[in-house]
Amino acid sequence: MARTLSFVCQSCGAAHSKWSGKCDACGGWNTIVEEGAPIPAGAGARRSKGRPFALEDLKAADELPARRVTGIVEFDRVCGGGLVPGSALLIGGDPGVGKSTLILQALASQALQGGHAVYISGEEAMAQVRMRAARMGVAESPVALGSATCVEDILSTLESGRTPSVVAIDSIQTIWTSALDAAPGTIAQVRTASFDLVRYAKATGTALLLIGHVTKDGQIAGPRAVEHLVDAVLYFEGERGHHFRILRAVKNRFGPTDEIGVFEMTGRGLIEVSNPSALFLGDRSGTAPGTAVFAGLEGTRPLLIEVQALVGPTGYGTPRRAVVGWDAGRLSMLLAVLDTRAGLAMGGHDVYLNVAGGLKVGEPAADLATAAALISAFAGKPLPGDWAFFGEISLSGAVRPAPQSELRLKEAARLGFRTAVVPEGTKAEGLELKAVRDVTDLVLLTGGELRQSERRGRIESHD
Ligand code: TYD
Ligand code: MG
Repeated sequence: MARTLSFVCQSCGAAHSKWSGKCDACGGWNTIVEEGAPIPAGAGARRSKGRPFALEDLKAADELPARRVTGIVEFDRVCGGGLVPGSALLIGGDPGVGKSTLILQALASQALQGGHAVYISGEEAMAQVRMRAARMGVAESPVALGSATCVEDILSTLESGRTPSVVAIDSIQTIWTSALDAAPGTIAQVRTASFDLVRYAKATGTALLLIGHVTKDGQIAGPRAVEHLVDAVLYFEGERGHHFRILRAVKNRFGPTDEIGVFEMTGRGLIEVSNPSALFLGDRSGTAPGTAVFAGLEGTRPLLIEVQALVGPTGYGTPRRAVVGWDAGRLSMLLAVLDTRAGLAMGGHDVYLNVAGGLKVGEPAADLATAAALISAFAGKPLPGDWAFFGEISLSGAVRPAPQSELRLKEAARLGFRTAVVPEGTKAEGLELKAVRDVTDLVLLTGGELRQSERRGRIESHD
């Protein structure tokens, strides 16, 4: 008889034939747990169902089911324009970020539009869910509530009534199947229960929303076990101490993956933020040295973000570098480029970098704004308040173009910016453009001082 692989790593999902202290697959310690092997249901039985179709036979657009719009615009956009019938969506996030609140609001909105929305909580009692709904002002919405954790119970309840248009399971880590004797929350349970729910969704055309908690290293517990089962994975994130939350698609079979939805958590639930630039711009009334505005892009949406830098002589032996909202490695690279190519020696200085509002910026086009903030902080000279920046900086110090420049500049002009500092070759109307070829151009433009050798080099090259 074949040996069963019933020892499963709770971190990566790899199966092993025996227990050991370390998982060979992911290197995690103490992550392997014995899980019961599933009872094979009709294993080996041949069925003739999965007959292949020609793609062209399926092309009639009217046969394709319409997306179910929840009416929460920010949510619908991240999903790619509403929920796809029969699809499964996984929503991950830290505990307390507002996943249950978001989903309850989306379901309430769907139900008010005539959909049959079902919310099943494995974490909260009915009374708690109702209390939350009352706080959010959606208690009158005809959402069907259920409190259950056994997947067989959930499915038989769903099958006995009207087929729902959308079902939410809060959270997948609390759901278990009686087909396994492993504890709820283990990889095997999460995987099997999700699989049964996804199968139900596909068979009935119900849109399924699975809520999952994220482990401390940022992965949804049992990530590999569930992520491939679902059609889309969304992350709901937010910084502690900030009120706004960002919904981000990391995988989407039916839509783009670079869209974000912005919400603000208030005493009455989440409110959509349709003009997020205002949130991330910070208080622009007075300009201190070290702040620059980045004309960024998140998905299809332009977004203006304030980058703040603080540079000061170091008090200890090793200078400190601290970054919030940006990549620390990228900051080191930028400092090295500014030092080598423009002679801004910040080696003996502490450097702190912060993206206002707690947003995380991943675009390389933010380099120029960050460099401008650093130069301004180092020189102690504030930048004009109505300047916006974008452009990528390469290791040679050259400033490279960024995609969708018109969109960025249009948003900047709309928000009252008059001047944009951009890579060479950028065109725009309604804004004065200052093109920079490399970091030395930027230093001269933003009031920094070039090192003697750089200055001489420039004069020679311009002669
Ligand atoms: P919740 O949706 O329960 O988070 P999750 O399901 O991701 O664990 O949200 C919990 C937090 O949201 C909690 O700290 C309180 C806050 N909150 C508000 O500020 N306003 C509200 O109207 C609601 C419902 C929650
Ligand atoms: Mg919750």
